[in-house]
Amino acid sequence: MDSPKASEASSAAPLSDQPAQASIARVYDAALGGTDNFPIDRQVLEQVRKVAPEVNDLAWSNRRFLGRAVRFLTDQGGIHQFLDCGSGLPTAENTHQIARRIDPAARVVYIDNDPAVVAQSEALLADDELCRVVDADIFQPARVLGSKTIRSHLDFSRPLALLQVGTLHHYVGDDGAELMRQYIDALGAARDASAVVDSSCCWASTGRRGRAHTQRRRTLPSRRRF
Ligand SMILES: C[S@@+](CC[C@H](N)C(=O)[O-])C[C@H]1O[C@@H](n2cnc3c(N)ncnc32)[C@H](O)[C@@H]1O
Repeated sequence: MDSPKASEASSAAPLSDQPAQASIARVYDAALGGTDNFPIDRQVLEQVRKVAPEVNDLAWSNRRFLGRAVRFLTDQGGIHQFLDCGSGLPTAENTHQIARRIDPAARVVYIDNDPAVVAQSEALLADDELCRVVDADIFQPARVLGSKTIRSHLDFSRPLALLQVGTLHHYVGDDGAELMRQYIDALGAARDASAVVDSSCCWASTGRRGRAHTQRRRTLPSRRRF
């Protein structure tokens, strides 16, 4: 499948020249057929391809899963605000674009700790009142949840979707479940009507309707699954 990234990404701030190290955001971009990557990122992608020849398909499966989850939650889950953790380099089907086809007032906060991701996202979303970009480590939930930007833009007393798509396998600690528990606890009273999505499974409780949606799809190897 052709990447829809190039036209939108080209309007963003340029990436810095020839980085010394690969970044997972750019390696993922290369796997999606994007243009925001460097030789060092493509070298890493080729190493991954040796052990996972289907890596490009896996990346696209992951991306399509994100799209299905956001559509489902906006359309059928009654959720209109999203905390997108580890959002990656901007592509044409981003969370806010997908959600807004159903609800033009959907609100999104994108979080990433890759400087290029943050710079490009800020450039693309500078005039978007319903989106925010936060530079933070998603594996430090207390800091993320204490962010003034996040707290002022999203209402944690209302249903909210926490997206951890293509991210949790980057966590190398052995307390991943506790980490996620902190996020889930922060959903507070709205927890039963909220959703937590990761790319190995998606569970969404939609309150009285009690509808559960489960998807099991392995993407890249996970260190922990919960
Ligand atoms: C494989 S990409 C997934 C992008 C997007 N969520 C998707 O599924 O299409 C992983 C993203 O998570 C980000 N990431 C990895 N570890 C992170 C951390 N500790 N804090 C914030 N972002 C992180 C990377 O920079 C990258 O953009």
